[in-house]
Amino acid sequence: MSGPHAELTYRTSVRDANAAGDVHGGWILKLLDDAAVIAATRHCRTRVVTAAVDGVRFRQPVNVGDILSFRASVNAAWRTSMEVGVRVEAENTIADTTTHVLTAYLTMVALDGEGSTTKVPELEIDGPDASRRRQEAQLRRDIRLAAPENLHQLHAALRADTARELVP
Ligand SMILES: CC(C)(COP(=O)(O)OP(=O)(O)OC[C@H]1O[C@@H](n2cnc3c(N)ncnc32)[C@H](O)[C@@H]1OP(=O)(O)O)[C@@H](O)C(=O)NCCC(=O)NCCS
Repeated sequence: MSGPHAELTYRTSVRDANAAGDVHGGWILKLLDDAAVIAATRHCRTRVVTAAVDGVRFRQPVNVGDILSFRASVNAAWRTSMEVGVRVEAENTIADTTTHVLTAYLTMVALDGEGSTTKVPELEIDGPDASRRRQEAQLRRDIRLAAPENLHQLHAALRADTARELVP
């Protein structure tokens, strides 16, 4: 893995279980965020906050006792924000199997000592893989930042349709 990254390994136990007896999804998201914070901080060397989390879709439940691994890497850096991709896998060490739990993309924003947003360094990683990751991250950013505006237009259109239906 090139560029700023973090790897976090966690052995799940009964205290992490939900009512169904699997590992609680909220706990997995907390560790996911921790891994992203470490990778982002290794890049910008300032405090960071999570602005957005995209792409969370649990592909399957995680069994209590599995070893969770979180591999986070900074895909792109813009003015004050960075995209960190995190891949989560669950390993059953007895059965010797590893499953892909989810991959999520977190937008982390750098803050200075006063809590204001602050610039992040350029991401200096080269090679075809880094360039592809950067391009994909840019596409996701465009979609992410455009989404509220699209939703606003969609809601306005829906309201107009409903108003038309109500007119006798
Ligand atoms: C994230 C936060 C600092 C952004 O503040 P803001 O006043 O909108 O700041 P700006 O408009 O200058 O945006 C800062 C950056 O965040 C990005 N950003 C803001 N909201 C975003 C969103 N919903 N999704 C993706 N990126 C976002 C902007 O694109 C910008 O990135 P850039 O400088 O690289 O172009 C602010 O909304 C905040 O503090 N949110 C709460 C964070 C938090 O508590 N997280 C959970 C605990 S860590």
